[in-house]
Amino acid sequence: MNLRQLFLQHVAQTSTAPLALEIVRAEGSMLYGAQGEEWIDGIGGISVANVGHRHPAVVEAVRKQLDAYLHVMVYGEFVQSPQVRYAQALAAHLPSHLSSVYFTNSGAEAVEGAMKLAKRVTGRTGIIAFQDSYHGSTQGALSIIGSEYWRNAYRPLLPGVHHAVYNDLSMIDRISTDTACVIAETVQAEAGVRPPSKEWLQALRARCTETGTLLILDEIQAGFGRTGSLWAFTQFGIEPDVLLLGKALGGGMPLGAFIARKDLMDHFADAPVLGHITTFGGHPVCCTAGLAGFEALLAEALAEGAEAKGALFGQLLRDVPGLQSISRCGLWLALRFDGFDSNKRIIDHCIAKGLLTDWFLFASDCLRISPPLNISEDEIRRACSIIHSAASS
Ligand SMILES: Cc1ncc(COP(=O)(O)O)c(C=O)c1O
Repeated sequence: MNLRQLFLQHVAQTSTAPLALEIVRAEGSMLYGAQGEEWIDGIGGISVANVGHRHPAVVEAVRKQLDAYLHVMVYGEFVQSPQVRYAQALAAHLPSHLSSVYFTNSGAEAVEGAMKLAKRVTGRTGIIAFQDSYHGSTQGALSIIGSEYWRNAYRPLLPGVHHAVYNDLSMIDRISTDTACVIAETVQAEAGVRPPSKEWLQALRARCTETGTLLILDEIQAGFGRTGSLWAFTQFGIEPDVLLLGKALGGGMPLGAFIARKDLMDHFADAPVLGHITTFGGHPVCCTAGLAGFEALLAEALAEGAEAKGALFGQLLRDVPGLQSISRCGLWLALRFDGFDSNKRIIDHCIAKGLLTDWFLFASDCLRISPPLNISEDEIRRACSIIHSAASS
């Protein structure tokens, strides 16, 4: 059997039609295949490779950490400098109350931890989440994602969850003194890059404060400069009680985090002690990679450059044949076509011609663009020309 056949045979499958591209190398915004193929990476591993694949600073930092230590102890017991330094760096770039960082292995685990934290802090059980939101695939995260199609096969799920309409002012009064937390994506990702209005997010913030409800913002996909600012919430003039990060947080390694006030996070240390535990969360190699990636993101002003690069994509793509609309936030675009079939045909053509892209979970008629934030202008122009030719064929 060749490697592709072995992949289908022995690696558990999540789809009947996986892309099954065999990648032998990745560098910057490029992916290289086993048969000599080259692709511009238009999706960055789904918004992970914000500093590009194998950023030299990340690779160098990982090499150094490999010479020091790998896993040495479960989370929270030993002083591990990569964890401490990264938590300190994140806190220095966040509002002062977001000073305590709990590192996890993934985004979904950060979601789980944050929901537990909200229950502990408030003593309440009600959770308000939103239709068309995605938060992960573990049972707690699945309970709050905003699609009955994806949830239904796994019932019973968490009780006490209400799914409200995103960006709808009439849901605000639904938040009450029974609500432990409201969990929202600052910009809805899998709905096809949907930013809410400032007015709505501010009303959500105000009502959470009024009722003592924690406002949890999921920036697992929207964070790290993707929307044109380091954190998307700063564009809406509000601050969350808990911030969720993942994906690009690890510089290409698996890492998630939920971040809150220290006195809130201290609930996990007592009654019961070890209120949230993980063996590998905040792995030293992942934190080292993440910190190096974060420093590169800042040094290269990648968040600041995202808007202009996103605008260039928007301008070059606006007259693509069959395109119905473009939704864009920084260097993050959803191109809407007239249905999944047209979209899929264009995506397949793009992949055949050297551009990797895909669709969105809750917007299968939209083509995803979320490349590394340091993609070059030449790569953007080549990517857009491939999309044009795919849509014209
Ligand atoms: C907005 C959002 N939240 C949470 C998650 C879950 O992250 P992970 O896949 O690392 O568990 C994702 C993953 O796509 C996401 O996009």
